[in-house]
This record gives sequence, structure tokens and C-alpha cells, in this order.
Amino acid sequence: MVREWDPGTASSAEIASLLDTLNAVLAVDLPRDPPWRESSLREYLSEVMPGERRISWVAQAEPAAGGAPGPILGQVNVLLLGDIGVLEVLVHPSRRRGGLGRDLVLVAARRAYQEGFQSIGVEVVGDTPAVAFYESLGFSKEYVETRSVLDLSAVDWAELSEMAAGIGAGYHLEFCPGGPPDDLIDAYARAKAEVRDVDDGELRPSSYDPQRLRDSLDCLHRRGMKPYIVLALHEQTGEVAGLTEVVVPAQHPTRADQYDTIVVQDHRGYGIDRAIKARMLLELRSAEPRLTEVQTWNAQANEAMLKVNAELGYRADREWCEYSVDVAELVHRLDAGR
Ligand SMILES: CC(C)(COP(=O)(O)OP(=O)(O)OC[C@H]1O[C@@H](n2cnc3c(N)ncnc32)[C@H](O)[C@@H]1OP(=O)(O)O)[C@@H](O)C(=O)NCCC(=O)NCCS
Repeated sequence: MVREWDPGTASSAEIASLLDTLNAVLAVDLPRDPPWRESSLREYLSEVMPGERRISWVAQAEPAAGGAPGPILGQVNVLLLGDIGVLEVLVHPSRRRGGLGRDLVLVAARRAYQEGFQSIGVEVVGDTPAVAFYESLGFSKEYVETRSVLDLSAVDWAELSEMAAGIGAGYHLEFCPGGPPDDLIDAYARAKAEVRDVDDGELRPSSYDPQRLRDSLDCLHRRGMKPYIVLALHEQTGEVAGLTEVVVPAQHPTRADQYDTIVVQDHRGYGIDRAIKARMLLELRSAEPRLTEVQTWNAQANEAMLKVNAELGYRADREWCEYSVDVAELVHRLDAGR
């Protein structure tokens, strides 16, 4: 049975059941990824940025003989932001290839269609059944990134200290756990805005103006995701010359996510990229002692970033693709196949 579902008011048993399904999915599709924990999972699923909505549905097994609710075997949610819908679908491995994935996509696609959305996108992990699934539904590949993972136990910390110190004169680094300090928010947003069209095209949404940046930091905190930032400050002007962002999610606190790394055009060529990333890892070592890995996503064309990541010890893991589809065509195709 597929029904609309609000993670904000769902019972704890349902949240725990969804977690079991998510971890069963990870165990077969991404066996090297750490299993998720329940910590802040409800908030992770329910909190959104101002102006965004996430609508969810679950597929739940029939109640057991004693009347206890059945387990959650699948889930879909669509995040509606601006004029884009972003889809996420999960089906328990024991229930796959029975048409449940298709049913879940249909319910979300119908809603996106009713709400006037023209296209939906989805992140698809390479080498998993999701590739054939979305291609069978008519989604097409728009963009490919590579996910890389850094194993902190293999890091040469002495070499990293040298990298962190290897920055041109006239700059200094600042570590900001929790987010940029308030007096640097404007300069921080300017640095992000300047490179938005130029740089690496990473999948993570960026924040370009100070208010949006504050909202996005608030949203991260509410979802149980702790941001850490290292800034390179240009001493003469006080401008943010470079920044790197890592988030440690309560749901998988042993593996952090590297978000944006930006070096502003005028400040390139001074070793800032390498230094800020190295300093971040050194700081995380003491701030987050449970951390064992960091993962990052890069466009395959971004050779400069890939080179620095390789020097730091990141190893390419998988393709991470963005697919999209026209909503009306998707609804039509799925309805016709029923
Ligand atoms: C992708 C996923 C949702 C598919 O769910 P499902 O219930 O098995 O999908 P369906 O049964 O509706 O399949 C629909 C069609 O997709 C295609 N398909 C699905 N899985 C496939 C596979 N393993 N190989 C080839 N084709 C496949 C087939 O054409 C299938 O139709 P058919 O069974 O009539 O041939 C499921 O595998 C899943 O949850 N994957 C994890 C997704 C995810 O987000 N992971 C993130 C962490 S890895």
C-alpha cells in the first residue's frame, strides 16, 4: 500500500523501519558506505529550506496478524524547489523487481505534474540497479560526477601539515566550526557568488546571497548536519579569497561530506586550494575524532580539483550521475504501462 507520509509526525517505529530499509539498500548497493543511524533522521527527512517543500510517500506492508503496523518497504520523496523537482526513491532489496519502484515514481510524478512542474531530476549512483531503472522509465543522463573517498587512516599527517602551511604570503587561514562568523557572511557570500558560473559544477546547491547562506546554514543544523569551514582571508582587503566546506551528518558521523571548495579568480596560483583542504582535515582530526572518511564529488572535467584531491589521498569510488525527465512524458509512460 502506497500512502502519503509526513516524516515530521510519523511514529518512531516508522522512522526506525525506514532506517532498516535504507540500510538494507546501502548494504547491497553501496556496501562500503557506512550504515545510517537514527540520530536526527526525522529532521533530515522533514526539514527544508524556506520556499522549498518535500513531499513523501511510503509503501508499507499489511499489518501483522496481531495488528502491529507492517514494515516500510519503500519510500519516495520529491523536493520541490523553484521550478525543479528532485526525486529520491528506495525499495527494500527483498521487494525489488515487482513494480514497486515504478508505482512510487508514478505517485510522486503525478503530484509534480499537478503542481505544474515540467521536469524532474534524480541522482543516480553508478553501478547500481537504479541506472537501468531510471533509463527504463525514460530518464536521460544530464551530467556525470565522480565520487571520491579519503580514508583518514591512510593520511600522512606530517605531509598534510606542510601542505596547510604552504600558502602564499598575505593570506591567512581561519577555521570556523558551525559556519562562517557573522562579520564574514557578506564576504563569504561574495566569494561564492563570484565563481558560481565558472567553477566546478558540483551537484550540491550553493548559496550566493547572505540571507540564503544563513538560511542554508540554519537548515543544515536543523537536519543534524554540522558544517565546518576553512577560510583563506586576503589580509590586505579582508576579502574571502578561498573557502572549503565539510559537513558531518549525525546520520553517518564516521563519513563526512565535502561540499564546495572555492578559490576566487584573483587569488588563484597561491596554493590556497591545497592549503585550505589540508587545514580542514587537520582540524577535523581533533574536532571529530569519530571521523574515518571524507567523501567528495567532482566534475570529471575539473582536473585541477581532482589533482589536489589525489595529492590529499582521495581515491575515485563511483560515478554519480544526474538524470532528468519531462514530467508529462513520465506520467504518460507510467500510466500507459499500467
Ligand atoms: C531503483 C529501485 C528504486 C528500483 O525498484 P524496483 O521496485 O526494483 O523497480 P521496478 O520493479 O518498478 O522496476 C521497473 C523497471 O526498472 C528496470 N529495472 C529495475 N531494476 C533493474 C535491474 N536490477 N536490472 C535491470 N533492470 C532493472 C526494469 O526495466 C524494470 O521493469 P521489469 O521488472 O518489468 O523488467 C531500487 O533498486 C532501489 O531502491 N535502488 C536504490 C536506489 C537509491 O536511491 N539508492 C541510493 C543509495 S544506493
